Amino acid sequence: MSTVIKNGTVVTADLSYKADVLVEDGVITEIGMDLKGDKVLDATGCFVMPGGIDPHTHLEMPFMGTYSSDDFESGTRAALAGGTTMVVDFALPNPGEGLLDALKRWDNKSTRANCDYSFHMAVTWWGEQVFDDIKTVIETRGINTFKHFMAYKGALMVNDDELFASFKRLAELGGIAMVHAENGDVVAELSAKLLAEGNTGPEAHAYSRPPQVEGEATNRAIMIADMAGVPLYVVHTSCEEAHEAIRRAKMNGKRVWGEPLIQHLTLDESEYFHQDWDHAARRVMSPPFRNKQHQDSLWNGLHSGTLSVVATDHCAFTTDQKRFGVGDFTKIPNGTGGLEDRMPMLWTHGVNTGRLTMNEFVAVTSTNIAKILNCYPKKGAILVGADADIVVWDPEKTKTISADTQQSSIDYNVFEGKEVKGLPRFTLTRGQVAVHDGEIRTQEGHGEFVAREPNGHVNKALSTWKELTAPRPVERTGIPATGV
Ligand code: URP
Ligand code: ZN
Ligand code: ZN
Ligand code: ZN
Repeated sequence: MSTVIKNGTVVTADLSYKADVLVEDGVITEIGMDLKGDKVLDATGCFVMPGGIDPHTHLEMPFMGTYSSDDFESGTRAALAGGTTMVVDFALPNPGEGLLDALKRWDNKSTRANCDYSFHMAVTWWGEQVFDDIKTVIETRGINTFKHFMAYKGALMVNDDELFASFKRLAELGGIAMVHAENGDVVAELSAKLLAEGNTGPEAHAYSRPPQVEGEATNRAIMIADMAGVPLYVVHTSCEEAHEAIRRAKMNGKRVWGEPLIQHLTLDESEYFHQDWDHAARRVMSPPFRNKQHQDSLWNGLHSGTLSVVATDHCAFTTDQKRFGVGDFTKIPNGTGGLEDRMPMLWTHGVNTGRLTMNEFVAVTSTNIAKILNCYPKKGAILVGADADIVVWDPEKTKTISADTQQSSIDYNVFEGKEVKGLPRFTLTRGQVAVHDGEIRTQEGHGEFVAREPNGHVNKALSTWKELTAPRPVERTGIPATGV
């Protein structure tokens, strides 16, 4: 059975043009005028774009004494409702646990996914087993991205020697290093001091993680990655200090990407000073929301290309879970949701304001990350042969974001009350219509794992350059005699 998307305008990262799109057996088989199919989806007045890819989610993640509340079913349902057709989640080994054992747990959880997904592997400790497992994971599991936490001291954090060892291993095997860049030692000290001085509320979370801790760690990770010769992806870049480090590194020829979140682009630090404890605690995440100057920096980075991808870091905790931290802000589970709202919020605050073109919107929500992850053009493209992960985007459709109507399983939404203009009319996941004119028709278990090869173009270019510029002995003709 074929499906044809008719009368729309195809919008990709580099082109906009009128065309119908024919889908057969889950892939795009033809793009052109006046196409016919068994089933017709009317895209009049709409933009036909690659479905969104959210490369940063934590579904059913064990963290801070609990589990994040959206699992692969509700999380991917929320994703599809908002036009996102692929998520990449982080598989986290426990201390001392092998990488493959951690992956087994993620394999089990992800069988319920409604849309396609992939995994990043986290490196949460270092030893011979991790050294060996990285190779197996890259060569047999289709995972080429490895995340390191420079924060969460005493839990997920790794130190500089471990970072350098891991980065070198990844360079050798054609992987990509990722970092959560905050100086965990400084955060731990600042948190203890704030608590001792009676600053126990959610606002102290923001004070404990100023932009300097992020700027310092981002710069450190960039330098360590450069010395190891590995491309670096910095997750949740939230401030000018971190953006500056990335910008400078790019200008100096280093291979580094930055990923702002939709939350940091559209919500600011005033949220933490709200009178209502629950309101503030629900927005506690790391790094925290920043002020307007930092937000401007992130927006400018997106359109100038110094920042590459907009993600969510979707890690949703209920109000009851957030209340673990009443009386001690360090016990508030860190994380916020956003999967359903990323695309509509970015369109509303990006495209509708003129901060982003439609093509830039596609680039930062889908195509750029598909290229970085090495799954383009299977994902992130409207091309013949690409997976039919497509969003038919209605720029006139509006709604007010509300927890009452969201797909996420938690009891609030950090974007509550925000008006958005620009929403999916249809969302297709490998050809299957998961959103039909506002009606959710997801199918649990439809999602498949997306395997990703190592040694993408950027790895090859970087290793060529590193080889060319590596230290080598000077061939000399006259060598002075020694000992005279
Ligand atoms: O606060 C956050 N970001 N929670 C999720 C885990 C992480 O640091 O990415
Ligand atoms: Zn993370
Ligand atoms: Zn993080
Ligand atoms: Zn995260």
